[in-house]
Amino acid sequence: MSVMRTKSIEQSIRETDEPDFALKKSLGWLDLTVFGIGVIIGAGIFTFTGKAAQAYAGPAIAISFVVAAVVCGLAALCYAEFASTVPVSGSAYTFSYASLGEIVAWIIGWDLLLELALGAGVVSQGWSHYANLLLTDMGINLPDALAPKSDSNPGGQFNLLAFLLIAALTALVAWGIKESMRVNMVLVGVKLFIVLFVIFAGLAYIKSANYTPFIPDAIAGKQSEGIRQPLIQWLFGFTPTTYGLGGIFTGASIVFFAYIGFDVVATTAEEAKKPQRDLPIGIIASLVICTILYVAVAFVITGMVKYDKINPDAALATAFTDVGKSGYATLISCGAVAGLTTVVMTLIIGATRVLFAMSRDWLLPPAFGRTNPKTGTPVRITLVVGLIVAFIGAWLGNHIDLEEMVNIGTLAAFTLVSIAVPILRRRRPDLKRAFTVPFSPVLPIVAALASIYLMLNLSIETWLRFLVWMALGFVVYFAYSYRNSRLSGRAKEGEVPSLTST
Ligand code: ALA
Repeated sequence: MSVMRTKSIEQSIRETDEPDFALKKSLGWLDLTVFGIGVIIGAGIFTFTGKAAQAYAGPAIAISFVVAAVVCGLAALCYAEFASTVPVSGSAYTFSYASLGEIVAWIIGWDLLLELALGAGVVSQGWSHYANLLLTDMGINLPDALAPKSDSNPGGQFNLLAFLLIAALTALVAWGIKESMRVNMVLVGVKLFIVLFVIFAGLAYIKSANYTPFIPDAIAGKQSEGIRQPLIQWLFGFTPTTYGLGGIFTGASIVFFAYIGFDVVATTAEEAKKPQRDLPIGIIASLVICTILYVAVAFVITGMVKYDKINPDAALATAFTDVGKSGYATLISCGAVAGLTTVVMTLIIGATRVLFAMSRDWLLPPAFGRTNPKTGTPVRITLVVGLIVAFIGAWLGNHIDLEEMVNIGTLAAFTLVSIAVPILRRRRPDLKRAFTVPFSPVLPIVAALASIYLMLNLSIETWLRFLVWMALGFVVYFAYSYRNSRLSGRAKEGEVPSLTST
């Protein structure tokens, strides 16, 4: 049996009706758009904008946001075509299983876990910084070892706040997606209000002098040497620098994190009432709305504070403290706490749905993916994902910077999904496509190249970690999944793993 075996789309759709594995179909286009915005606006804009402006791009970070938006927009069109053709849980993983073959699907599933579970852990840490700020304002001080680790608290060992957040959200997700969506809707409203507040309240404090130079001159810097330098710099022998034109692209590869999430909309395909129409609307609408907001926030923040003075951890709040508006800063911190909560929750939902799809294909043990008859959700998977995310958010993230890892995993998935669009069109021209990417195959190829280009702008260190993660994925695939897959000989011989309750 070949590792390139594909699963037919009809089979994928049929399996969604198996009672043990059926998810409730309850989401409309508005739910999906809200879901998208809920996961997109998060630590990216609240934290990494400041970090990337200060360390890589200066005021030109607004251009970095546009660059990242173009890459995401191209990939979003490809996701929208796939989601409208194969409305099955699991997003890019499922699409590629139907077009590129099992091994590619496995790679994408493995990348998506990096994006979703690691992303949830990273954002939970961002959340804990803002939550800790509010607690301190109220006079509650956690012991150093349990408080979030930062420059001012290097002794942080176990991030208690991140842990509590993840525990609560895991319980909510296990309880049921519709209930979670309702919570999401309220929190997304709060988050949109705060982002608009930053833009309109900040306009009054912009000093045009802060925009000069708009693209700071390239300088040699610590961020860009050794294994911290972008791979592209090392490959093509550029002298290591920060800022300048190169800084705009490095900045884009960092703030790319802020856009992650529109693709997660596609992971809920099976829970949509009319997926063919509603998924493309949800994916594209949420991306467009966020792009407009991000570019505006980037302009305002770099106009309020000179780029080299921007706070790399909580730029949005401290920009207002700096101009004497600490009340505004507290309001923004409250909004960040509410806003980042939805991101962590949505990423956890996304991770459970990808694992769910993989276990339904028996690439992971099938009993693991069974839905609970009472809640209609895959409870076991949700608990395992919760544990992993808690480990990352409460402990691992204290020791390693993980956001670039999230970006590289996501960009790798974007690349493969883009390539899959023209392949599926050639293999299955008969399928009904409610949404089609214009100018295929040119546009999907450009989308793949753009994603690869952003990946090359990530550091050598990130690439090395990514290669280790992928190697681990291959070990699991060949040790377990290849032999146990539903498409393997074992399934053909009629040996069916038990799906009954234990
Ligand atoms: N886009 C999400 C964020 O910015 C992951 O937090």
